[in-house]
Formats: sequence, structure tokens, C-alpha cells
Amino acid sequence: MEMSGDPALAAVAGVSLALTSTLAPRVPTLNTGRVPTRPKACGQELVRGVGDTGGVLPNFLSTAAGRGELWRAIELAESLGELDPIRRAAALRRSLDPGLATVALAQAALRARARAKFGALAGLLLFTPDGLEQATRVEIADHRAARYAGAGLSSVLDLCCGIGADVLAFQRAGLAVTGVERDPGTAAIAAANADAPIVTSNAEDADWRAAESVFLDPARRTDRGRTFDPRAYSPSFDFVLDVLTSGGYAAAKLAPGLDHRLIPAGVEAEWVSFAGGVKEAVLWSAAFRAATARDVSYRATVLPSGEHLTDADPSSPAIGPVGAYLYEPDGAVIRAGLVQQVSALLPGGRRIDEHLAYLSADAPVSTALARGYRVLDVLPYSVKPLRAELRRRQVGIVEIKKRGVDIDPAALRRELKPQGPNSITVLLARVGESRLAVLAEPVQG
Ligand SMILES: C[S@@+](CC[C@H](N)C(=O)[O-])C[C@H]1O[C@@H](n2cnc3c(N)ncnc32)[C@H](O)[C@@H]1O
Repeated sequence: MEMSGDPALAAVAGVSLALTSTLAPRVPTLNTGRVPTRPKACGQELVRGVGDTGGVLPNFLSTAAGRGELWRAIELAESLGELDPIRRAAALRRSLDPGLATVALAQAALRARARAKFGALAGLLLFTPDGLEQATRVEIADHRAARYAGAGLSSVLDLCCGIGADVLAFQRAGLAVTGVERDPGTAAIAAANADAPIVTSNAEDADWRAAESVFLDPARRTDRGRTFDPRAYSPSFDFVLDVLTSGGYAAAKLAPGLDHRLIPAGVEAEWVSFAGGVKEAVLWSAAFRAATARDVSYRATVLPSGEHLTDADPSSPAIGPVGAYLYEPDGAVIRAGLVQQVSALLPGGRRIDEHLAYLSADAPVSTALARGYRVLDVLPYSVKPLRAELRRRQVGIVEIKKRGVDIDPAALRRELKPQGPNSITVLLARVGESRLAVLAEPVQG
């Protein structure tokens, strides 16, 4: 076991990972925009970690001078962003040591990629390609961390901390964090990114039972790429379940496709989407579940708005015909099995078929939990009349959505040959034995 981030912690690393007063809470500082200057203890060996960029991140992280040199080199690489890659590399190698130039170019490229997930914070962080891909988006990490803070917790052990995106979020929420990361290069980067103790260790060897709270974001990648099979997670899914059901405060971030049958009894499952895409399922231990005002088994949270629904909210079992508005619940709502709860929010809300996640309503509502459409017409589905109707409406742009029908939208669009200045949404649905084409326009706002 090796400790990065604080020599004092390295001394006790072999003894315990418990969050004791020795593994003292730290004041979060990274999100203040400073360039880190505190010397880090991360060994003298080269830290490999920029993989497919072909670079090697040398041990610039072990001294304040090295870190300063690295930061200036990355800033120089970023400032040459206007040049084509070959000229940029040549310019950088003229003024820098070739190894440093390679690292700086790789980090500048990763930071540019990272802005989509991290915004301006990307400019303060170091990445690996894998670490960036697996890192939690800022808004989602903050949402999770807020629940830890809201439960009155003051410290957390992040058992698979990667490059430290969740560590930083816990710090922003005011918690003291200790990170655990199996890969030494990634651990060194986490230590550089967050002013927190990072232990290089297998999570399963950590003394997580002594921690006030635990967070787990297991790797969902194998040698063959991303995996959706929890049995291939690292650390193992059995370990994740052990931590979740041990009686303490714990949460695990898992793939959104999580099979409901894998959710242990007493645990709350939350699906989180961001900007319309379902990003993760989080399992919250019974302690977290008990800390909320109402007992909840399933929750859906839609970010960035923060709107959420649970199985403790009112639900409507109604089924009925397509009315003036059609609503398509957010993917997090569908995955959490809360379609009937969204239905209860809609005026006259009803499913148009018991098997479909399309809801009808008599009037519009403003909600991020479902996307709304004003219904213009409802036709029995058949290509020829649909094409004729689109011609009549001079529709040149068609958005095609479907549920319960085996129709290829791209092939249908070619058959419809749309022409004209107008746009429309066609929602195809199987309702009982019929196939319907609902012509609609999105409700704004
Ligand atoms: C999904 S990433 C964590 C991302 C992190 N939450 C973030 O937002 O930056 C999972 C990390 O767990 C590490 N890991 C995998 N197996 C581990 C184990 N048995 N013990 C500790 N870390 C492990 C991987 O190296 C990887 O960096």
C-alpha cells in the first residue's frame, strides 16, 4: 500500500485506512482556481498514465518546482492551440525538454476534451484518457456529494477515486475525503488534482468499516473496453454489495442499465440523467435511506434542473386515448419505473398503453421530468398517408420517435421524402393492436 498526497499519511498507510484524526480532515481548496504548489509524495518512478496519447507523465508531481514546471508547460501547449498539431509539437519541443513537451501536449489535449464534463475546472486538473472517460461530470458528482453533506456526514472514504472528480465534489460539499485507487499513476494524478490523501491500494484491502461513510465507483472497463455486466466490475460487485449492506453510510455509482433484480433489499436505487441522457444508477445504503423524510426505494433525478420523483410520490394508473398533449418521460424516470408518478403530475395524465412510456395529458405542464409535445394530428400508421400528410403540411424536417413498434426511423425518413420549410415530430406507438403516428410539435420550455 502506498500513500500519495501527504508523507505523514504514508507512514500510517500500512496500518489502517480508517478515517481517524491522524488521517485528518482537510480543507477543500482545489476549486478555488489556484495552481497547486504543495509538494506531493508520489514516488520517484515515472508515472505512466496518458496511455493512448503516447505520453509519459514524469515525476513532475513530487516537488513544487516540478509541478510549477509542468503547469507552465501545459499552459504553453494550450496557448499554441491555434497551430496545427505538428507545428505545435515542434514549437513546444524547441522550448521544452522533449519528455515534458510530450506530457504537456497530451494534457492540453485531455483538458480540451475534459471541458465538456468539467467546464473551467478542467484547466486546473490533470487527466488520463481512461480517468477522464470514467470521471463523474461535475453537476452529478455535486448532486451526490450534497446528499452526504445533507445526511450530516463530515468525512468519506472514496474507494475507487480515479483521477479524483468525486473527491473534489465531496470537498466542495465540505467533507474531508480520503481516496483509494489501485493504479499508482492514477492515484498520483488524484493527489495532484485534489488536496486530499490518496492511498494506492486495492479497495478490498482498505479498512472501510472504520470510515464514517464510503463511496464506491467501481471500474466498468475490462481489457475489451466498457462493460455493462456488474460481474465484471472492479472491485467486484460482491464487494460493492458487502459495503452497501454493512449497516453504514455508503453509496455506489453503477451503470444506468442496472438490473433491478441486483438491488439488495433495504437499499434505495436512484437513476440520474443529465441533459436528457441517463448517466448512472446510484445505490444508497439503508442508512442513507433512513436519513430521508420519506422511505424511498426508487428515485429519478433529472439534472441540471434537479427535479426528482420517487416511488413514494402519488401515481396514476390511468390508461386512455391520446389527447391534446403527449409526454415522453425522461430516461431516468423510465429506468426507475416511475412513469405512473409522472402521469400523476399531468392534467388528465394517462398512459396511452399499459406497456408504453408515452403519456397523454389535456394541458401542458412545465417539467424537466418528461418532454412534452402538442398533438397536431393522430393517424393510423401507414407510410403513404403519412407521406401525404407531411406533404400537405410542407414538412422538410421530421424528427421520428418510436415506442413498441419495429420501425427503422432512418429508413422511414427516406421513404417519407420530406420537403418544405416546416418541421414536425412524428411519434410512432403501438397501442393495443394498432400502430399510431402522432404528429406533434415540442412544447417549449
Ligand atoms: C470509474 S473510475 C472512478 C472515477 C472517479 N469516481 C472519478 O469521478 O474520477 C474507477 C477507478 O477504480 C480503480 N479501481 C479498479 N479496481 C480497483 C480496486 N480493486 N481497488 C481500488 N481501485 C480500483 C480504477 O483504476 C479506476 O481509476
